[in-house]
Amino acid sequence: MDLQIKSFEEYQRVYQESVEKPEEFWAGIAEHFYWRRKWNRVLDWNFKEPKIKWFEGARLNITENCLDRHIYQLGDKPAIVWEPNDPNEAHRVLTYKQLLEKVEQFSNVLKNNGVRKGDRVCIYLPMVPELVIAVLACARIGAIHSVVFGGFSAQSIADRINDTGCRLVITSDGGFRGTKTIELKNIVDDALVQCKSVDRVIVLTRTRTPVSMIKGRDVWWEDEIKKVETQGNPACPAEEMDAEDMLFILYTSGSTGKPKGVVHTCGGYMVYTGYTFANVFQYQPDEVYFCTADIGWITGHSYIIYGPLSQGATSLMFEGIPTWPDAGRFWDIVDKHKVNILYTAPTAIRSLMAAGDEYVDSKDLSSIRKLGSVGEPINEEAWNWYNEKIGKGKAPIVDTWWQTENGGILISPIAGVTPTIPSYAMLPLPGVQPVLVDENGKELQGNDVSGNLCIKFPWPGMIRTTYGDHERCRQTYFSAYENMYFTGDGCLRNEDGYYRITGRVDDVLNVSGHRIGTAELENAINMHSDVIESAIVGYPHPVKGQGIYAYVIASGHHVDEDLTRRDINQTVSRIIGAIAKPDKIQFVSGLPKTRSGKIMRRILRKIAEGDTSNLGDTTTLLDPGVVDEIKAGAEKLR
Ligand code: PRX
Repeated sequence: MDLQIKSFEEYQRVYQESVEKPEEFWAGIAEHFYWRRKWNRVLDWNFKEPKIKWFEGARLNITENCLDRHIYQLGDKPAIVWEPNDPNEAHRVLTYKQLLEKVEQFSNVLKNNGVRKGDRVCIYLPMVPELVIAVLACARIGAIHSVVFGGFSAQSIADRINDTGCRLVITSDGGFRGTKTIELKNIVDDALVQCKSVDRVIVLTRTRTPVSMIKGRDVWWEDEIKKVETQGNPACPAEEMDAEDMLFILYTSGSTGKPKGVVHTCGGYMVYTGYTFANVFQYQPDEVYFCTADIGWITGHSYIIYGPLSQGATSLMFEGIPTWPDAGRFWDIVDKHKVNILYTAPTAIRSLMAAGDEYVDSKDLSSIRKLGSVGEPINEEAWNWYNEKIGKGKAPIVDTWWQTENGGILISPIAGVTPTIPSYAMLPLPGVQPVLVDENGKELQGNDVSGNLCIKFPWPGMIRTTYGDHERCRQTYFSAYENMYFTGDGCLRNEDGYYRITGRVDDVLNVSGHRIGTAELENAINMHSDVIESAIVGYPHPVKGQGIYAYVIASGHHVDEDLTRRDINQTVSRIIGAIAKPDKIQFVSGLPKTRSGKIMRRILRKIAEGDTSNLGDTTTLLDPGVVDEIKAGAEKLR
C-alpha cells in the first residue's frame, strides 16, 4: 500500500477498507515507518474510560523516523529552510545531516543538564531553527516537550509549568516579530517566581536584549553547545520508546476552567502526522513546503516538524508576520524559496486580501502547486481570492479541518485527487469515521443534515489523556455522547455527502484561528479590581473570523471608561496574553440572567452581532429591563 492515494476511485476504495478493517489498514500504513520492534496488537480501545492504545508493544523513536532514516538518501537535502523576520538578514538552511548533528548535540546538552527520559521540558522560543532542534532533542532522549506559544503571558507559562512539573525551560533572550522585540527571557523570569520545579533555564541568543542570568539556574545555549564540542561532540543515540509513551503535551482552551494539557504519544502520532502530510498535500520529493503556523500551536508541531520531516520533506519556517515590512511578505518568501505548497490560515488570507491586490499582482508565484487552509472556517470570498490570486486557479486548495486533540488532519480534500468546494472540508480521510448527532445524541443518517460533529472510531493521532487529569479528558470529549469523541464543532453534510464545518457549538471562541475559552477569559477579566462580573461572546469579525465582545459590570470607581477598558486589556494581557484582549468592551449595569442565575448568552451574542430584531423570549429573565439598556449601550459602541 502506498501512502498517497492517486484517484477519487482509489480514495473511495481505501476509505471503505479503512472502515471495514481499520486494524489491517493502519498496520499497512505503519509499515512505512521505522520501528525498532513491531507491535503485538494494532489497537485496543474503549471510549468509556477512555482507553486508546495504538501499536502496543512497538518500540521506536520518532526522531529516527524524522532524521536518521533519511540520512543515506537525503542527507544533503534541506530539511529546514528558515526565513528570518527581517528580509535583509540571511536565511538559513539545515540539511537532514546538519539537523541530525544539531539535534544530537543539543540532546547531549539536555542530558548534561540532567534531563532524563520522562522529564517534562518547557520550550518558550521564537520561530527560529533552534526551536525545531529543541523539540526534536527532547523527543530523541524521551523527554516530554511542552511548547508554549511566544504570545502567552508569564502567568500562562507558570500555569503550564506547574501543571506538568517541568524541571527545565528553554527560551531565548528575545524574539523578533515585525517591528517588535518580544522579551522572552524576561517573561520567563516573571513566570519562574511562581515555579518551584524549575532549576535550569537554557537561554538562546537571538535579539541580545539585556537579560538577567541567575547564577546556578540560567545557562546560555551557546556555552552549553561549546561544552559538548569540547567533549568531542559524541553522538546521541535515540532513546527507545514505547509506542504509547508520551511524546508531548500541548495546552489548549476549552469551554471551562484553565487550559488542558493535551497528551500525544510516540507511535500513533508519528504514523498519523506522517500519513496525513504525505497524502493530503501529495508531497513530491522535490517540493518546498511552507506552513506559516507557529510551532507553539498544534499545526506547527504536526505540519512544520513531525509530519514533513518524517516524510523527508523540505519544511520552510518563517520567523515573522505576514504584514511586515509589507503585506507582500509571504509572496516574497514564496518567490525567493520557490515554494510549491503553502499552508496558512484564513485570518492571514483575509488580512492580506484586505491589504490590496497590489501586494500580490507584482509577484511571480508560479512555483505554487498546492494550497492549504487551517484553523477556522474559510469564507467563500477568501477561498476564491486564495484560489485566483495565489493559486492562479490551478492549485487545489485543501481546507483541512482538525483540532489540537486530533494530532492531525481529519476531514479534508486530498490535493488534486478529491473534489473541492469553497468553504467545505469535504470528506473524511481514510480511517476517520465522522458522525453528526442531534441534541439528544441520535446519529443523523443520510445526507443533507446538520448537527454536532463526533467521531465514532479511534484514529492513531488522537488525544490519549489530559495531563494529570484523565477524568477531565473523559468529561470533555467522551461524556456528551456515548461511545463517541465529541469535537465541539457544528457541521453539515450536504446532499452529496460533503462536510462543511460551521464553527464551535460550545463556549469556545476562534479568534484569528486561536482557540480562546470564554470562561478562562471571563476569569481573567474578573481579576481586575474594578470588575464585578463579565460575560464574553464572539461576534463576526471581517479579518479575525470572530472578535471578542466583553460585557462588563464594573464598580463605578473610575469614571473614565476608556481608561478602565485599557486597564482591563492590560489585565487580560498579563493573565493570558495579548491574543485574548477583547475587541470591544461594553459596560453594563446588569447581565440578562434566568431566575436560576444562568447568563442568557444567546441574547448577548445577538446584541453583539448587531441583530436585535428578534431576541426571542426574554420574559423568563430575572430583570427583562436590562436587555433594553444593553441594546442601547451596544448601539453607542458601534
Ligand atoms: O472549530 C474548529 C476550528 O478550530 C478548532 C480547533 O482549534 P485548535 O485545536 O486550535 O486547532 C487548530 C488547528 C488544527 C476546531 O474545533 N477549525 C480548525 N480547522 C478548521 C476549523 N474550522 C473550520 N474549518 C477548518 N478547516
